Amino acid sequence: MKPIDPNLLELFNVALEARNRSYSPYSHFQVGAALRIATGQIVGGCNVENASYGGTICAERNAVLSAISQRGSREFTELLVLTDSNPPAVPCAFCLGVLGEFCPPDFSIHLANLQGVQKSYRLSELLPHPFKF
Ligand code: THU
Repeated sequence: MKPIDPNLLELFNVALEARNRSYSPYSHFQVGAALRIATGQIVGGCNVENASYGGTICAERNAVLSAISQRGSREFTELLVLTDSNPPAVPCAFCLGVLGEFCPPDFSIHLANLQGVQKSYRLSELLPHPFKF
């Protein structure tokens, strides 16, 4: 286990707890996300799969939708994504697009696995040209 920056420990623990709630009987790939909202509070999310496959909701979008619908917040400062993969998984293009809708280019995305937080990016690095119209 890599030591986790104390600033990220709470995010990591929320993502870990959320990941334990993953409903992933098809892929068996559990994902947890922890989103910090403008108040400083953290909202978790896990992936929830569906027999249709297309109806699956990723952990990151689940966290964003919960923050909006449950906390009335559309202002986010950072996100941690936790998977059991090496290197740790990067949010998919759909999730990046949804983050791009609400988050500034300098929004931080921390990628973690069970060994700790491995890498941090700015949203602009992962989504340099967000769709706009
Ligand atoms: N998944 C996420 O939760 N986040 C991503 O950014 C990519 C993929 C989930 C969806 C599905 O339940 C499983 O990982 C395998 O694709």
